[in-house]
Amino acid sequence: MKKTINKKSILSVLLAILLMLSVAACGSKKDTAKETEAKEEETEAKEEKTEAKEETTEAKEETTEAKEETEADEEPADASTGKALEDGVLDLGTNAAFPPYEFYEGEEIVGIDPEIAQAVADYLGYELKIHDMEFANIIASIESGKVDGGIAGMTVTEERLESVNFSDSYATGIQSIIVTLDSDIEGPDDLTDKKIGTQFGTTGDFYAQDDFGEENVQSFDKGADAVVALNAGKVDAVIIDNEPAKSFAAANDNLKVLETDYAVEDYAIALTKTNDALLEEVNEALAALEESGKLQEIIDKYIKAE
Ligand code: ARG
Repeated sequence: MKKTINKKSILSVLLAILLMLSVAACGSKKDTAKETEAKEEETEAKEEKTEAKEETTEAKEETTEAKEETEADEEPADASTGKALEDGVLDLGTNAAFPPYEFYEGEEIVGIDPEIAQAVADYLGYELKIHDMEFANIIASIESGKVDGGIAGMTVTEERLESVNFSDSYATGIQSIIVTLDSDIEGPDDLTDKKIGTQFGTTGDFYAQDDFGEENVQSFDKGADAVVALNAGKVDAVIIDNEPAKSFAAANDNLKVLETDYAVEDYAIALTKTNDALLEEVNEALAALEESGKLQEIIDKYIKAE
């Protein structure tokens, strides 16, 4: 049978085709929409990932930075031993005429400072060598590299900080006034126009010169020599740190320490400015000794509670 193609059938076929096409188009549109959505989601997800990655990278960078900082902090001055002092010896200057901080017992230098120094050296695994010298030479010896530092009941001052590093403070010092029992001097105000004895190069020496005039101050190499001069009536008073003052007065029947705090100060270990790693090590050691009670134990051994 011959198929007769009439207009109607062509039209319906065309319509059918159109319909299919439109459905397909619709479907594809939907699909495209879906795909776009999916793609967008994917992109978002990717972006999130990238962000997350970036954050991780940042975090990593921070960790690296932190690590580098820690490493830099811990970086020892000497790479071969891993310690601040290459030769393994902690050389410290002192002036062993300052009881109870440092003084001679026979041939041996004893006192609070040498014991603290020994405990610090032990903690850090160094051998300790104490070098006795004039107090006024300690800073210069540190600067010239003769010693790594000094422990001598040394007061932290702005001026000294220009030449040396100072550890954290391990004790408080007070500048006191020693007079004879029969003296009419009752406090710093009475020192005007009086002859004052001091130990050369100490804070007591500087304060006395500033407050009462250079011409009224006679400085001695040792505190004990100033006390001898006081006993001999060559000076009217001695300005010196409280603990040595008490110890000198205790050894001299006709001397007393006035109850006035002329100046309150911090004692610390002076250290070379050229080795910051050493400063860190010493501070770490002092903190550990403080924590363990060893520091107080040493101080209590030499300074009896009144
Ligand atoms: N504290 C005072 C200062 O730093 C006196 C220290 C004197 N020490 C000594 N060992 N003679 O100037």
